[in-house]
Amino acid sequence: MTNTYAIVLAAGQGTRMKSNLYKVLHPVCGKPMVEHVIDHIHGLGANRIVTIVGHGAELVEETLGEKSEYALQAQQLGTAHAVQQAEKLIGDLDGTTIVVCGDTPLIRSETMEALIAHHNETGAKATILTAIADDPTGYGRIIRGADGQVLRNVEQKDATSEEQKVTEINTGTYCFDNRALFDTLKKVKNDNAQGEYYLPDVVGILQSEQALVSAYVTDDFSETLGVNDRVVLAEAEGVMRRRIAEKHMRNGVTIINPDNTYISAAAEIGRDTVLQPGTMIEGQSVIGENCTIGPNSQIVDSQIGEGTTVHSSVVLSSTIGSATTVGPFAHIRPDSNLGDRVKIGNFVEVKKSTLEEGSKVSHLSYIGDAKIGERVNIGCGTITVNYDGKHKHVTTVESDAFIGCNSNLIAPVTVEKGAYVAAGSTITENVPESSLAIGRARQENKEGYVQKLNLN
Ligand code: UD1
Ligand code: CA
Repeated sequence: MTNTYAIVLAAGQGTRMKSNLYKVLHPVCGKPMVEHVIDHIHGLGANRIVTIVGHGAELVEETLGEKSEYALQAQQLGTAHAVQQAEKLIGDLDGTTIVVCGDTPLIRSETMEALIAHHNETGAKATILTAIADDPTGYGRIIRGADGQVLRNVEQKDATSEEQKVTEINTGTYCFDNRALFDTLKKVKNDNAQGEYYLPDVVGILQSEQALVSAYVTDDFSETLGVNDRVVLAEAEGVMRRRIAEKHMRNGVTIINPDNTYISAAAEIGRDTVLQPGTMIEGQSVIGENCTIGPNSQIVDSQIGEGTTVHSSVVLSSTIGSATTVGPFAHIRPDSNLGDRVKIGNFVEVKKSTLEEGSKVSHLSYIGDAKIGERVNIGCGTITVNYDGKHKHVTTVESDAFIGCNSNLIAPVTVEKGAYVAAGSTITENVPESSLAIGRARQENKEGYVQKLNLN
């Protein structure tokens, strides 16, 4: 077995993005593009993975963590110079090295595998992954000889008008014999339009030295999209979005309209769950089986059990149990924990609160910093008054308690087990178990008062 190494180029600033964020950290379906590349490389079982970092090196390393080793390219002198930085780590090893750009997030493991297999079979010193582009503008062009043999790559800015008509492009992914790669990098010159050391020149140099160089043409151009600006970023997002939706549909998730449903690369969704239009499942969200999410719901970094409905609502960094219903128009803010068979109705906001099994907040309430037990009923318009202007305080409502409509529970306060709070109460003191608290002015009827006012 030939050893395989991978080098990912991620040192560029990404000037054409016109962004304060380094290019390779721009997310595609919620995941930085360089992380997509690295995750796909992981599927190859490479012996070593080296990422070349420069602009935003610390942030890139923080993002990828242990998934890669790193080599610093302090000055960005071109893609060949970038690869050279890996020499001290892997330069003296025997094997095949795949080089991938950090800005090609759509490249698949299968394609890289096929490229490596082709490279190893032909015994070439270099194999370039190419594709046929409808519009090759901006890409390097593959120049072939009369017999179809790959001669070299020419960059857009260095190409003659004749060469610019070539539609076979360099995707930015290559395989090299590792030793031949590092030997040849030393011979690359920067006498070109951009004054840079171009990695694809390695292919031309090897060819001129009579070494065998080859190309592997992939038939899916979209997979090789290089994201250089925000227009292509949106294009890549579209391709990735459809790819993710298809994966879930094949796994048994119904997506009513995949074109307006947005699922992060990391999300997990159980079978027979239905995603209604306008739904966004973001971050590290996990949704169980038989749920209905949407229409128009946003779930971010949250866990949801089975058979739960989230209708036209926002759920952020929270956990929701099974057979629970949320919405329409509810807002579940971070650190909330809703148990099984809980009901959160319309215009309810929940923040940093726990509601145990079977509890209900059906209409127009604010539940913040609260601990609500099992089978509690919180009447319409109830507010946990959690903030005194300086500090947040906890409201505790124990199991089987019943809070009448339009009550204010002024924290810190506890309503004990099975206690009742009369509608319209403002509760400032703890309510003992099984008692009824009434905290409101007593009603007074002034009989005949209206006639008196009429003065007749
Ligand atoms: C490159 C190829 C081009 C190919 C295209 C495919 C070269 C000279 N050109 O062009 O033939 O068609 O990719 O998408 O290689 N980088 C570094 N250090 C540097 C320069 C770049 O790490 O000094 C990294 C960038 O962060 C980026 C990648 O290399 O991830 C590619 O660089 P970029 O400037 O985007 O190259 P292209 O002009 O797209
Ligand atoms: Ca690029």
